[in-house]
Amino acid sequence: MRISLKPRRWLSCLAIALAALAVGCGQALVPAATDARWAALGGRLFADTRLGGDGRTGCISCHRPEHAFSDGRPLSLGVRGQTGTRNAPTLLDVGELPHLFWDGRETRLEQVVLQPMTNPVEMGLGSIDDLLRRLRADPKYAAAFADVGGVSTDAVATALAAHLRTLRSGDSAYDRYRSGNRDALSPDEQAGLALFTGKAACSDCHVLQEPRPRFTDDRFHHLGINDNAIAGKVATLIPRLDGKRNLGHLVLTEVDIAGLGHFVASRKPADLAAFRTPSLRNVALTAPYMHDGSVATLEEAVEQEVYYRGINKGRPLSMTVEERRQLLTFLKALSAAQ
Ligand code: HEC
Ligand code: HEC
Repeated sequence: MRISLKPRRWLSCLAIALAALAVGCGQALVPAATDARWAALGGRLFADTRLGGDGRTGCISCHRPEHAFSDGRPLSLGVRGQTGTRNAPTLLDVGELPHLFWDGRETRLEQVVLQPMTNPVEMGLGSIDDLLRRLRADPKYAAAFADVGGVSTDAVATALAAHLRTLRSGDSAYDRYRSGNRDALSPDEQAGLALFTGKAACSDCHVLQEPRPRFTDDRFHHLGINDNAIAGKVATLIPRLDGKRNLGHLVLTEVDIAGLGHFVASRKPADLAAFRTPSLRNVALTAPYMHDGSVATLEEAVEQEVYYRGINKGRPLSMTVEERRQLLTFLKALSAAQ
């Protein structure tokens, strides 16, 4: 059989081959290795508390598996006992989030995972080069990284991001109920679900999307009060945002900047003091609550949300004690850490 290709075909074949090569090279900033291998290496880095500037702080210090990868504190505790301005969010399902951090100032996991290393109130390293030097000097890490092309900034970021993408929430009682097991939720929990999507309208923002609800609209909203307090300071704060200091460092070390919310990313006045709707999966495991950890218990968080959402709508949301309890019971049925 004779295979003949017209010249134009040849050209287009060549173009496709070149394009495929280009795509391949783009991805090969770090050499190919299986996702599982990257994730395993990332898991080691994530759990290694020696990597912090004080030799005892790592990602896992603030993202603890038993708290659904949050830390149980209002504000996280970093190197040498320093606190930042924000409450540590869960990392379960973080691979699905379009906006990262409470203010959505980043969008790609690979951009986010190195930031805690040098943040002065998180792991407090002098520079990423410090980290790379230490990893190269450690025979076990050097061997593990040799498998993925050697120690480099990209390799560390790829490994940590790959690990985070493996952190997924498991099926909760609510998921079992959704997939047809009507006994998976008690009558009170079912009543709570009906309130959540009905009268209390929580699902306006904590959205129950198909096929697997994430309980967030991936958008930013105001708490409803105190917005004016921050507005008065904006003029003096904006030049700070344009200064040389790293945005993440500013946000986590200066409470006024942290209070600007999504404005730091969008620069739109409407986003002043607006924060990301958090997922409510595993919410019973992630106390305290809100971006600043200002609400200690889930019960108080529900009270506050019922109150503020009434303010947003311009009329109080009247809910009986019994209904609030049912709402709370429903939220507790959303737990299944991994
Ligand atoms: C000192 C505590 C602390 C340490 C150490 C720490 N984190 Fe965090 N992490 C936080 C806090 C607090 C936030 C929220 C910051 C914000 O919203 O501005 C956060 C946010 C994140 C987010 C964004 C999650 C989301 O829902 O948007 C990711 C991803 C993350 N951390 C990964 C890591 C990794 C990887 C490490 C280790 C390299 C690490 N963290 C170390 C406290 C910490
Ligand atoms: C207008 C959108 C919106 C509505 C409606 C809404 N929420 Fe929220 N919810 C948010 C935002 C935004 C936050 C984070 C606020 C912050 O950190 O300042 C939040 C935070 C929470 C938290 C704390 C979660 C955490 O991890 O810190 C709980 C619990 C909660 N909401 C429950 C509810 C309940 C119950 C309802 C219904 C009564 C409700 N929400 C209605 C947007 C909304």
